[in-house]
Amino acid sequence: MPLFEWDGSLAIGHEAIDTQHKNLVVFVNQLHEACKNETGGSDSRSVLMSLYKYTMFHFSEEERLMKQANYAEYAAHKAEHDSFVGTLDALAEKFRHGQADIGKETFRWLVSWLIDHISVMDKRLVACLPKG
Ligand SMILES: [Fe+2]
Ligand SMILES: [Fe+2]
Repeated sequence: MPLFEWDGSLAIGHEAIDTQHKNLVVFVNQLHEACKNETGGSDSRSVLMSLYKYTMFHFSEEERLMKQANYAEYAAHKAEHDSFVGTLDALAEKFRHGQADIGKETFRWLVSWLIDHISVMDKRLVACLPKG
């Protein structure tokens, strides 16, 4: 069973953003699998980098849409994105120093952060965007 199961309640009703969120779920599950089957660290490191790059892409897309819409809560929303990226940065730094393990607590944090952020901040954002 995957760590993080996509569930329709996470859909926010914006096609592009929903697709990106589903892809994030896939990357988080891939990272979890890679860490479980870890042999030398290279798999989980490359999956972590893929998750990192995709997260940056996804956040920059949302931030672009927020700017376009002159979204009033842009700063608060971006601050949440930045804190998530900060955690991914810290993980990448650990991996660079050879600690290629991500504990259960961290996975729990990644999943609950995404669920909370999508359910609250992203849902609120989508109400202000044209359908996409
Ligand atoms: Fe967001
Ligand atoms: Fe999002």
